[in-house]
This record gives sequence, structure tokens and C-alpha cells, in this order.
Amino acid sequence: MNKLIIKGGVPLSGEVRVSGSKNAVLPILAGTLLADSPVIVRNVPDVHDVSTTMELQVRMGLSLTFGENMSIVIDPATLENTFAPYELVKTMRASILVLGPLLARFGRAEVSLPGGCAIGARPVNIHLGGLEAMGADILVENGYIKARCDRLKGARIVMDQVTVTGTENLMMAASLADGTTVLENAAREPEVVDLADFINAMGGQIEDAGTDTVKIHGVEKLRGCDYTVLPDRIETGTYLVAAAITGGKVLIKHTDPRLLDSVLAKLEEAGATIDSGDNWIELDMVGRKPHSVNIRTAPYPGFPTDMQAQFCALNAIAEGTGSVTETVFENRFMHIQEFMRLGANVHIEGNTAIITGVDGLNGAPVMATDLRASASLILAGLVANGETVVDRIYHIDRGYDHIEEKLASLGAKIQRVPN
Ligand code: EPU
Repeated sequence: MNKLIIKGGVPLSGEVRVSGSKNAVLPILAGTLLADSPVIVRNVPDVHDVSTTMELQVRMGLSLTFGENMSIVIDPATLENTFAPYELVKTMRASILVLGPLLARFGRAEVSLPGGCAIGARPVNIHLGGLEAMGADILVENGYIKARCDRLKGARIVMDQVTVTGTENLMMAASLADGTTVLENAAREPEVVDLADFINAMGGQIEDAGTDTVKIHGVEKLRGCDYTVLPDRIETGTYLVAAAITGGKVLIKHTDPRLLDSVLAKLEEAGATIDSGDNWIELDMVGRKPHSVNIRTAPYPGFPTDMQAQFCALNAIAEGTGSVTETVFENRFMHIQEFMRLGANVHIEGNTAIITGVDGLNGAPVMATDLRASASLILAGLVANGETVVDRIYHIDRGYDHIEEKLASLGAKIQRVPN
């Protein structure tokens, strides 16, 4: 297991290129199962969750080859089985995304039930209820979801709660169903829109993705296509906070500022100067310290829960007191205990962290507990005095493409070392 050693205090400066979106590529890779001919997926981030998905697909018998410039060619025609085992699903909950496509295309699937995870219970009742409404028979037995169907049938499904992967799973299932499915209270995240665009590129007929009512007209078959994944808005936001927290100036390239309205608004409120073009964002905080901001997470277009921990780090060294309220997951404050080890002044009231900025954090050994918590500890380390050692960084490797190399290219003193 590796660690990251960070020597804080360097204002970041320079340019960084953002990778493809982890949370867009995972459903798109699962969605390749819907096609009957090879699919090329481009702008694939080099992150561990992608490797896990590829391993799952190889075990199902799919043929995968790497192309140039972060592309993968997937041939779904060679599929041999429709089984997603516990040992893979337990390491990556997004494996549940194969359930909808497998059922829609092959009429059967056996997928391990994902357990709870560090940030919350994260049940999949809405995924299963939606598939049942489309005519699937589902049995949950011995820790596995065992599902069968004849051709799925279009249905009107009102989802109790806004769920990103739930919307994606049902959208994929509905795309090969007989008739039209209407998903009400659908997630509006850009990653949902990217998946819909991908399915439409394969010949699907999805309308109004990105609104809370998505219509999917089922088609008989979907064919391979050549698709480029959208940029990672959370990776973008993480580097923007890295620039802001260190009093630096950074140009983020190959991104899309339109995906980050709520995050950019909070960074401007914190005192950053932001300039942007079609596919770049520049943040300038040179010679200034951020002001605290109040954050309340919410489904898109609200403030993303996946940026909450990074803004807690920002508030920890900002001028004033800010409150951060987490409304999406019930247990997503594990970074707070670690921040306190660095000298942060925080107290938690229910689902709100009240953070009063301190003059300086002091380096310490800290432990990563989940992906975004890990990112926030690295950010805190970049500004802390002395050395911060972040342990259990396998969490960060799940979703950030070569983070220490990208930060080092901006001048950060950060090094990966074996334990
Ligand atoms: N929920 C249910 N029942 C369901 C599904 C969800 O009660 O059947 C609840 C969850 O427990 C949670 C809320 O609904 O309280 C929202 O969860 P959602 O289903 O939207 O989360 P997800 O689809 O499992 C995706 C991202 C997460 C991101 C959330 C929220 C992927 C692969 N994962 O998870 O990303 O935090 O949406 O935006 O897209 C991350 O990248 O670090 C990460 C955790």
C-alpha cells in the first residue's frame, strides 16, 4: 500500500489537463453491453475504477483492447456470462450499473448486492423497483440480485429519491425495452446526459436527459459507436480548490466550465478571480487568503456532494466561519476528524460541519477513508506547515488520474512512497 508525502506551503502555478470523467465513463462502459458490435470509448481516465470495470467485463467474456490516446475498444459480442461477483462489486459499487444493460440485452443477470460503504448505506431499492416496473423478476438471495425477464416493457417510473446511478441503470434498461419509459424525478447530472448521448450515438432514442423527466423510446437493437467521454468536473473542481487554498494561479485545460456553475460561484464568493473559455478555467488567488463560504450539497445543479470535502479543507484555512451541510449521504464527514489532527477548528452539528478558519494547519499523518475525503486531505496537506503523510491512498487512485504527478507539475512538493 502506498502513501503520499506532502510538504505544504507552495502556491500552485501552471497548467493542468483534466481527464475524462470517472462517473461518466463507468456507466458508459457498462452501457457498451447494450450494443451488438464494437464500441470505441475515448478520453478514458487512467483510474482504478476503470480497471475494475474492465476486469468485470473481461470476466464476462468481453474482448477489450486499448487504442491510442486513452481509448478502449470493447466488443460486447463475445459475452459468455452475465455474472458480477461479490469480490469485484464490493470494491466498486458502480458495478451495479451492469444490471440494467445485462437484463435488457440478455434477459438475465446475477449481480452481487453492493454492501453499505463508508459514506452511507446506499441501498439500490430504486434500481430494483424500476426494473420490476419494466417487467423483470427479481430475487435477492445469498447476497446476490438474481434477475430475469423476457423483453422489458416501457413503464412510467417515479423515483422516490434523486439517484444518479439509479437513473442511469433504468435509462440503459429502458433503451432496449418494448415501448416508452418515462423516468420521473430523474437525476440531472451531466454524467446522466453523457450516458444518454452515448446511447443515442448507438442508435438509442432518449429525450430530455438533463431534466427531471427523461423519456426513453425503446429500440430493437443498438450498434457500436465511437464516443468521447466528457471531462471530469470533480477533478476540475479539486484542482481549482488546490489553487485557491494555496494562494496560487492555475489554468485548467480540457474541461468544461458549464458543468461547474455552483462550484465556480462558491470559489468567487471565497475571493478567487475566475476566467474561463469554452474548454478552460483559470483561477487566480495569488497573494490572497480565501474567505469562508457556506455550502449545502444537493443533486445537480446544486452543489455536488463530491466537492464537499474539498471545500471543508478550504474553509479550514479561510478567513471567518463557514457551515457545510451534507444532504445527499448520511455519513460523509470522515475527513473532519483527520482535519482536526492537522489543527482545524471544526464542530459537527447533525449533518452540518461548522468550520472556523485557522491561521495555519500543521502537517501530521492522516488516513484516507474514501475517494473525496482523500482528495481533501491532500489539499489540506498542500497548505499545512511541514509534512503531511496521507495513508491508504488506494482510495484516491480509484478516481483521480495520476494526482501526484499533476500536482507536482504545478509545483507541489508531493511524493508517492511505498509503505
Ligand atoms: N438511494 C436510495 N436508493 C437507491 C439509490 C440511492 O435510497 O436505490 C440514496 C442513496 O443512499 C443516497 C442518495 O440516494 O443517499 C443519492 O445517491 P445516488 O444513488 O445518487 O448515488 P450513486 O448513484 O450511488 C453517484 C456517484 C457518486 C456521487 C453520487 C451523488 C457514480 C459512480 N457515483 O453515486 O460519486 O457522490 O452519485 O452525486 O456515479 C464519487 O465519485 O466519489 C462518488 C461517491
